[in-house]
Amino acid sequence: MTVPRTATIAALFAMLASACVPAPEAAPAIAAPGAAASASFAAMASEDADLERAKAAATAFSTQLRGTLQAAVAEGGPTAAIGVCSTDAPRIADAVMAEHDLHLGRVALPGRNRNPAQAADNWQLATLQRFQQAVAGGAAAGEQLSVTRDGLPAGVSLRMMRGIATEPGCPACHGKHVAPDVRDAIALRYPDDGATGFDIGDLRGALWVEVPTRIATPTGGNP
Ligand code: HEC
Repeated sequence: MTVPRTATIAALFAMLASACVPAPEAAPAIAAPGAAASASFAAMASEDADLERAKAAATAFSTQLRGTLQAAVAEGGPTAAIGVCSTDAPRIADAVMAEHDLHLGRVALPGRNRNPAQAADNWQLATLQRFQQAVAGGAAAGEQLSVTRDGLPAGVSLRMMRGIATEPGCPACHGKHVAPDVRDAIALRYPDDGATGFDIGDLRGALWVEVPTRIATPTGGNP
């Protein structure tokens, strides 16, 4: 009985709005190109469709993970939520990837990952660096967005990254003064944890989405 649950949980709820994940954003509107379905319009429409899919998947992932975490924190406090984060985050990612037919995940800033599988890849490093520079210059971490359509490997149509901000509840598990029982629970699962020491407002990492190229239909008969 070392953790004062009620106050902690209330605070965690406020911030767990995006625990482990960034907040969703408003659904963007997309204009259909009407009757003039020229080849270039069709190409533009399909590019926008890729971005829509990427954003929808990112939001689905954020929302589902957030809900799961909120429930876990309410039930067992932050220590229990660590287990949920560890097992449910990948499960939710898998389900969203299957449903939206794309790849997504979260990465940490270089050297600051908790799960070694979430260390940034080469393609993610430059974007993370740009996000970091923007945040150092006063921009909001959670508003960083990068969309890449050119120069991608074969089979990849679009890549999107969105900044993940450190918010008021995150320091319970990612801050400078993590409670001893939480720290122990983290160390047990993640002996090489590099994901503490964050202040509110800091860039924690990014959510990434990779949309695969669609197989083109031979005749342009699709709507
Ligand atoms: C209850 C403890 C807890 C809280 C609170 C928490 N996290 Fe985490 N976080 C974790 C754990 C555990 C992992 C590793 C999950 C895994 O193995 O995929 C993690 C992983 C992450 C990752 C993936 C990169 C990495 O280092 O593995 C990001 C990004 C992240 N958290 C951001 C946040 C943000 C932002 C908040 C606050 C809004 C937050 N977390 C709150 C426990 C927590």
